[in-house]
Amino acid sequence: MLDVPLLQTDEQTALAELKAFLRIPSVSTLPEHAPDVRRAAEFVRDQLVAAGLENVALIESPGRHPLVYGDWLRAPAEKPTVLFYGHYDVQPADPLDEWLSPPFEPEIRGDNIYARGATDDKGQTFIQIKAIQRAMRLGGGRLPVNVRVLIEGEEESGGEHVEAFLASGDPRLKADAAVICDTEMFAPELPTLCVGLRGIVYGEIHIETAATDLHSGVYGGAAPNAIQAAVEVIAALKDRDGRILIPGIYDRVIAPTSQELEAWARLPFDLEAYRTGEVKVTELTGEPGFDVFMRTWARPTFEVHGIRGGFVGDGAKTVIPARAVVKVSMRLVPDQRPEEMVALLEAAVRAAAPRGAKAEFRFLHGAPASVVDPENPFLAKAAEVMTEVFGHETLYIRSGGSIPIVGSFSRHLGIPSVMMGFGLPDDNLHAPNEKFYLPNFFRGIDAVARYLVRLGA
Ligand code: BES
Ligand code: MN
Ligand code: MN
Repeated sequence: MLDVPLLQTDEQTALAELKAFLRIPSVSTLPEHAPDVRRAAEFVRDQLVAAGLENVALIESPGRHPLVYGDWLRAPAEKPTVLFYGHYDVQPADPLDEWLSPPFEPEIRGDNIYARGATDDKGQTFIQIKAIQRAMRLGGGRLPVNVRVLIEGEEESGGEHVEAFLASGDPRLKADAAVICDTEMFAPELPTLCVGLRGIVYGEIHIETAATDLHSGVYGGAAPNAIQAAVEVIAALKDRDGRILIPGIYDRVIAPTSQELEAWARLPFDLEAYRTGEVKVTELTGEPGFDVFMRTWARPTFEVHGIRGGFVGDGAKTVIPARAVVKVSMRLVPDQRPEEMVALLEAAVRAAAPRGAKAEFRFLHGAPASVVDPENPFLAKAAEVMTEVFGHETLYIRSGGSIPIVGSFSRHLGIPSVMMGFGLPDDNLHAPNEKFYLPNFFRGIDAVARYLVRLGA
């Protein structure tokens, strides 16, 4: 059994190193940050070496952000091999003026550390590395099981590199289960395993109404307007109650099993606290006839992320925009297929274009939903250590977010993913003032280190 706590000095060191990691603005979707993304990869590489892993390397592909790999495969042959996965890239930090401290200058306030990537996913990736290091130290330079680590730098922007690597059948991928720390707990103090994620289709709707922008006084009344057309297209894709109007969109949707629904019904959940404390809205919206868990975990969505076009500077400009671009996504649930959903969306967008407007959907990235078999033994052992560390029975939930690699692990490698997440619902992922609850950083290290011991027992 493993009950030697992390030494105080170890905690201090881990925290200082986490801060250094968080200072690197590794925003994978912005080309100007490519050198920072590389620095973050090198940071992870050096940490894997420091943790005692072997064969540590950056895996490169032209025009792609590096993958970081390391392993330790000296456990007896009958011991399992676990593949740790995380991502060192982060979402853009804007709107910058809403951060109380700058996004890439980590600051500890109270029990939280604030920075972009604090939870998603640098803090949680670091949990894995520190847990391996700790288990290695406790084992006198040996681990209880075989370990591989694969940390990518494109999770927040499509993950093409890691997907190609998985498809390549590289021998470094041989493992019995994947372990991912990139999800949230259902509530503070309630240890949680995530057993289902939604998929995604992301892209842009391009609208064109004229060869060039036009004077809105001279031509207004006679000429079509691209932004007006754009919002008409969007409005045609979802009704005012929240039902998606894309024909065929619900055809393949599979409802959760009755066991799963019963488990959800037992989750401690206060709708009013969720509305005012977590989502912070005057009214929750969504598809009629479904509760919040169904709406966020088990039903597809259509969302608009941004509209580009026309004049958006200060002051006034009287222009009829000729072009508009709308960023949109759909979240997918079992058994919706991304290619099929793209085809349905393309057709619906074309059909929704008003007179005088050309509208087309341009696909950027996609991944199907994934559900994990709750019976698999790797999951049960994870639940045991989570329960031990948090002193509360472990909950099994789904999440509405997407981690495309979970499906890829299952399809390409045939292995289950254990999603041990230590984020909290108020961690502000992808939003201003992202934070990580520091007690969960340390409990996470404890839980993952114990997990390695448990798997080797
Ligand atoms: N870690 C998140 C996904 C997540 C968040 C899962 C909270 C469960 C709970 C991941 O980094 C993420 O943000 N994924 C993207 C998908 C990607 C394809 C852009 C997402 O869900 O928007
Ligand atoms: Mn993440
Ligand atoms: Mn994310």
